[in-house]
Amino acid sequence: MTDMQAISDHWGKGDVYSRILDAMVLAGLDPKSVTIEQLAPMDHFHARGFPATVELADALPIREGDRLVDIGCGLGGPARYLARRFRCHVDGIDITAPFVDAANRLSALVGMEDMVVCRHGDGQKLPYDDEAFEGGYAQHVTMNVPDRGVFFGEAFRVLKPGAFFALTEHGLGETGEPHHPVPWSEDGSGAYLMRPADSVAALKEAGFTDIRTTDTGDKYLSGYKAAIERAEKGDTPVFGTHILLGKLAPQIIRNAARNIEERRTHPVQIVCHKPR
Ligand SMILES: C[S@@+](CC[C@H](N)C(=O)[O-])C[C@H]1O[C@@H](n2cnc3c(N)ncnc32)[C@H](O)[C@@H]1O
Repeated sequence: MTDMQAISDHWGKGDVYSRILDAMVLAGLDPKSVTIEQLAPMDHFHARGFPATVELADALPIREGDRLVDIGCGLGGPARYLARRFRCHVDGIDITAPFVDAANRLSALVGMEDMVVCRHGDGQKLPYDDEAFEGGYAQHVTMNVPDRGVFFGEAFRVLKPGAFFALTEHGLGETGEPHHPVPWSEDGSGAYLMRPADSVAALKEAGFTDIRTTDTGDKYLSGYKAAIERAEKGDTPVFGTHILLGKLAPQIIRNAARNIEERRTHPVQIVCHKPR
């Protein structure tokens, strides 16, 4: 098995879409009339979920009619949100085939299949033409990416001059390896965390400029702590990302919080540009 297949299997195997539909029905949501707002607790599959997508979107210079690329699009929640909010088109790509299948079927459910098109593939080898996009982003993807130079180089290649590129990630902290399991790895395999300064250096090396880094650790920590408190009170919503994280979800959330507190991870949001 290749490492990339193992990474894909870690994120999602089997019929993910059916699992989501079952959870939807259990939560009292009607798949025929479901909205992107109702999907949001489950399909923004990253630390702090939907509010983090909104904050990222607020920081990006997206215009109506833009074509964006979402590298590691997961279930397409962020892509659908941006497409609806900015009236733009988003091409998503993800290494996990069952997520891509679910992403496209969810887009069809909410009538957005023309605005958001997801396909299966590796962010290290993008199936798009040079200079095809006005902007691109990768939300919580790079923790699994073995070659950041190739990944950022591909993003750079497919972006137009002047385009933005944004990423959010759990960088490697200063104190040691993270406790596992975490969302991106059960035991440390398939995990390629880098110090934020090294990610910035790799972006520069790929050609990006105007690189702005924001620490997001405190916000993520409060998000994880709120989720832990809800779980302890037995208040976890029926429809949420635990459907995707599986039975290790409680331990994963506790470790994600503890790793930030112990400075084993260093979460950041980075926004940069391809020069004109
Ligand atoms: C935490 S999820 C984030 C999904 C989505 N970006 C979101 O925010 O909802 C990480 C995603 O990265 C994808 N991924 C990991 N390595 C990848 C790669 N080399 N190329 C494309 N997708 C990748 C995984 O399959 C998974 O869907």
